[in-house]
Amino acid sequence: MNPTDSIDASLRITVCDSAAEAQVLVADRIAATIVSGGVTGHGAVLGLATGRTPEGVYAELVRRHERRELSFGEVWAFNLDEYWPLPPEHPCSFAAAMRRDLIDRVDLDPAHWWIPDGTCPEERLVEHAAEFEARVVSTGGLDLQLLGIGRNGHVAFNEPGSPEDGRTRRVELQAATREDAAAAFGGLDAVPRSAISMGLGTIASARRLLLVALGSHKAGIVARALTGPVTPEVPASLLRGHPGLEVVLDRAAAAELPARAGVIER
Ligand code: GLP
Repeated sequence: MNPTDSIDASLRITVCDSAAEAQVLVADRIAATIVSGGVTGHGAVLGLATGRTPEGVYAELVRRHERRELSFGEVWAFNLDEYWPLPPEHPCSFAAAMRRDLIDRVDLDPAHWWIPDGTCPEERLVEHAAEFEARVVSTGGLDLQLLGIGRNGHVAFNEPGSPEDGRTRRVELQAATREDAAAAFGGLDAVPRSAISMGLGTIASARRLLLVALGSHKAGIVARALTGPVTPEVPASLLRGHPGLEVVLDRAAAAELPARAGVIER
């Protein structure tokens, strides 16, 4: 189906001139959430994402930490997903990427950071996923969830067809997703066929969602997700009704969106 011609008036979309500006804006949002202490007042609960999109965001947050402008000392953090099976020491694991880009470079207590365990035995996966969900709830829930978007519209590893109310679970990766990861893994055969991912229901339980897309290769899927039908076939479209959703794009990723008064240009 083709995208329709309009953007819901209630959608909050910010279009930045460049990827670098968008990453600074997203870092601003995360920093403000950290400083606020989160809704519980016992420290912000962040939902983190991997992929190339947030790399510049994390670099900006690390810079602020190094300048002593920002502390992660009170922060609780959850990562969206992890390949399964894959050990955290594997350089392509999301755990390794997070340590490299953020966790090992700021003062976040590693005991306050959870990412699904790619080494979890198959027979424990259901229990592991339930524990992950319970931890999210016991911290007070996610104050802000950072999200990228896959080229098929997936968020985290919720592939097309995923249930809107899904929770953390084992998921099977689609061909397009595995192909996109093949170069990093050194070949398609090396890319795991499964992952453990927060569900769309888990993600939607966050008080605020920050969906970020950068680059012209995201323009088509961004237009489908924001202006096309709301459908499980484009998982990101299911987040459109979330009252705390903000979309941050660079100009290239926004290129296929219809013009709309109210889109904040920076
Ligand atoms: C992976 C992750 C997603 C991420 C997507 C896009 O599939 N599971 O959470 O949004 O990649 O990645 P990138 O930001 O590199 O385009």
